[in-house]
Amino acid sequence: MTKNPIYCAIDTSSIENALTLIKEISPHVGGVKLGLEFFTSCGIIGIEKVSKLGIPLFLDLKLYDIPNTVKKSLKNILSFNPTYTTLHLTGGSEMLKECVNLKNQLNSNTNLIGVTMLTSFDDIIANEIGFIGSVDKNVENLSTLALNCGMDGVVCSPMEIRKVKETFGSKLKVVVPGIRNQTDIANDQKRTLSAKKAIELGADIIVVGRPITSADSPENAAEIFHQSIK
Ligand code: C5P
Repeated sequence: MTKNPIYCAIDTSSIENALTLIKEISPHVGGVKLGLEFFTSCGIIGIEKVSKLGIPLFLDLKLYDIPNTVKKSLKNILSFNPTYTTLHLTGGSEMLKECVNLKNQLNSNTNLIGVTMLTSFDDIIANEIGFIGSVDKNVENLSTLALNCGMDGVVCSPMEIRKVKETFGSKLKVVVPGIRNQTDIANDQKRTLSAKKAIELGADIIVVGRPITSADSPENAAEIFHQSIK
């Protein structure tokens, strides 16, 4: 394996904590993921500060709105040149295609990743908000939509990696949160798997948050995760 596929989710509201944590774990991760908690507290200034560390960035703001609003927000996100950024596939084909067109017009190298079903969903929660059928089936349908709209990849849980890879091969990158080694606490994640198994099944990027960031030594935890997939 050449590139380290581990992106650590820096879910904190403090820029100081984020910068300390990133400096500590950076030798053992491929990049860091900044999401809604970070963005709604540290804002654009926070993203700029992390960007300056020179580590590959995954800006996970999971855009979901009408096509025009998403496209204009994506333009702002692409100005940071993240390696990955996320859109909700349930935003629909018009929204997704406008974003892909924008990326192409700007000659951006950012990978546009579509969120299929949140990894905190199980069939009951999915059905509650109107999805028909199982989580797996909906992940497959939404991944087909992602491919048809020209997206670069999808986010899915470890449980769907095999199916998505079998169906789409290298046409879609597979980004996988919900990673937990045997001794880790699941927290709110419902569909989890170890880092090693997720990579064996074909995950291109694995997102690990609390098992690293809440560890007594985040640096050691990140190193153990890295060793576990070598
Ligand atoms: O702490 P933990 O390892 O559960 O963090 C997982 C990260 O991945 C969080 O930042 C969460 O927002 C993100 N994520 C997820 N499920 C998705 C998409 C992103 O858990 N479907």
